[in-house]
Amino acid sequence: MGLNIINHPLILDKLTRMRKIETSSKDFRENLNEIGQLMAYEIFRDVPLKEIDIETPVTKTKGYTVDLPVVLVPIIRAGLGMTEGIQRLVPTSRIAHIGLYRNEETLEPVQYYAKQTEDMDKSYVLVVDPMLATGGSAAKAIEIAKEWGAKNIKFVCLVAVQEGVDKILASHPEIEIYTASLDPVLNEKGYISPGLGDAGDRIFGTK
Ligand code: PRP
Ligand code: URA
Repeated sequence: MGLNIINHPLILDKLTRMRKIETSSKDFRENLNEIGQLMAYEIFRDVPLKEIDIETPVTKTKGYTVDLPVVLVPIIRAGLGMTEGIQRLVPTSRIAHIGLYRNEETLEPVQYYAKQTEDMDKSYVLVVDPMLATGGSAAKAIEIAKEWGAKNIKFVCLVAVQEGVDKILASHPEIEIYTASLDPVLNEKGYISPGLGDAGDRIFGTK
C-alpha cells in the first residue's frame, strides 16, 4: 500500500539516460514514453478482467477483456510526455486533462485547465506526471479527479521525493503511488535532486 517503486533494470537504464544533462529533447521524450509503457505493464496487474466467449480459427473458447473503462489523467504539461506510452499498452483508454503549473515563489499549484471524460466514477483512473516534488500538483490533481467522481485512482510518476509522497498520502491516504525512483532531496528551489531538471522544458524544448 502507499508507495510502490518499479525499479526494473530496463526502466533504470532509460531513467539514467533521461537524467543526463546532454540528452536531447527527442531522446528524453522517447525514453519517457517507453518507461511509461513499462510501468503500465506492472501497474495494470490488478485491472479487473471479464471472461468472454470467442472463436479461434480452431475452436470456440473463453478469453478475457479488461472490464473497466481506463482513464489516463496527465497533468499538463509534463504528464503528456508519459501518456502516449501508457496508452499504447491500453489503446482503449480515454484521456482527461488537468492543467497546473507551480507558482515559482510559493511552489503552490495554479490550475488553468480541466477536462474530464464520461463515467469517471466507473473508471480505473491513472493520474500521470513524471515529477512528484512538493506533491502540491499531484494532490490537487487527485482532488480534482475525486470532484469528477473518480473512486479508483492511482498516481504514476517517474521521479519522486518523500515530501511529495507524504503530501499525497496526507490528503489521499488510500492512493497507490507508483514511481521509478525515490530521489534523496528536494533542493531550495523545489527541484528534485539529483532529479532530471524541469521535465516540461526538457520534453517540449522550451529552455
Ligand atoms: C512540474 C511537474 C509537476 C510539478 C511537480 O510542473 O510536471 O506538475 O512541477 O512539482 P510539485 O510536486 O512541487 O507540485 P510545472 O509546474 O513545472 O509545469 P509544466 O509541466 O507546465 O512545466
Ligand atoms: N518539476 C520538475 O519538472 N522538476 C523538478 O525537479 C521538480 C518539479
